[in-house]
Amino acid sequence: MDRAERSKDLLWLRQSSSFFASRIILTANRFRVFDHLAAPGKTAPQLSRTLRTDARATELLLNSLVAIGLLIKRKDVFRNTAVASRYLVSQKAAYQGDILRHYSTLWDNWSGLDTVVKTGKPYRKAHDHEAFILGMHNLALLRVKKVLAALDLRGVRRVLDLGGGPGTYAMAFAKKSKETVLMDFPETLKIAKRLIDTAGLGRKISLFPGDFTRDDIGSGYDLVLISQIIHAYDDTACISMLKKCYRALNPGGKVVVQEFLLSETHTAPPWGALFAINMLVNTPGGRTYTPKEMTSWIRKAGFREISSRILDETVLITATKKLD
Ligand SMILES: C[S@@+](CC[C@H](N)C(=O)[O-])C[C@H]1O[C@@H](n2cnc3c(N)ncnc32)[C@H](O)[C@@H]1O
Repeated sequence: MDRAERSKDLLWLRQSSSFFASRIILTANRFRVFDHLAAPGKTAPQLSRTLRTDARATELLLNSLVAIGLLIKRKDVFRNTAVASRYLVSQKAAYQGDILRHYSTLWDNWSGLDTVVKTGKPYRKAHDHEAFILGMHNLALLRVKKVLAALDLRGVRRVLDLGGGPGTYAMAFAKKSKETVLMDFPETLKIAKRLIDTAGLGRKISLFPGDFTRDDIGSGYDLVLISQIIHAYDDTACISMLKKCYRALNPGGKVVVQEFLLSETHTAPPWGALFAINMLVNTPGGRTYTPKEMTSWIRKAGFREISSRILDETVLITATKKLD
């Protein structure tokens, strides 16, 4: 066995300790290390004085971040790499620090995976709603352009962003002069409102507080977006959500589902397969679903002309409510 084969053979062993790297990044993010290490950078003692952290622990943490590829070390001065500077400095457009704060909360819940596997019940002990919603904004900002470009918005006047979270997609629709409704829980809309007001789109988006599993979702829409919602629910809830959307749409209107990609065997790609466990840990009935599963529910709800398109790690399924 040559070296390359051996390292492939032992990939699972590396993966079983990959929480080392994960925890190092999450802790560095928690202390906002990357905000402090913009050029010209700092030495470990300088940073530990600024952060009021232990000097030895800080130096070891910084060295490990160099090994991971997020910092550069020159003559004991640490500074961000280009990647850290683009994604981990809080003022940057592509900032991902909020989703890392959410992952840090998920860490606590994932620690209960042994119990979850034994009982089949979720282990959702921790939740930071603001980190979750701002984290969704971090991720959606990386995708929104491609998603909007993939949609045919001709004839679309009124849009519902169902479970729209931070309103990243709602804001993109509003920028395209669509009359946009953002529905989510009241505590989510408080966070979304801050982002929407900052973007100066407050007048163009109606905030609709409610629980779409129980409440009316309105009517007269030409398009309903269901982005990253389905994985949190079981099949019965998903079918009734889709039926509700069908009723809420105008004839000729479209539903658009965005979800993580999952193969028909449920075992690939890795992100889709592993994310199922995230839903196992955090929800009573959610998991990731294959395009075939979702398509069959969409058809059951009454939609026709169903098509799907793969965008990086997600699939976008579009379907139409037939004209009367
Ligand atoms: C994973 S986030 C996705 C946010 C956004 N659609 C996106 O793709 O970026 C799920 C969102 O759905 C909302 N949500 C989940 N269940 C809901 C329900 N029953 N009623 C209203 N909102 C719900 C959550 O509050 C959260 O904002």
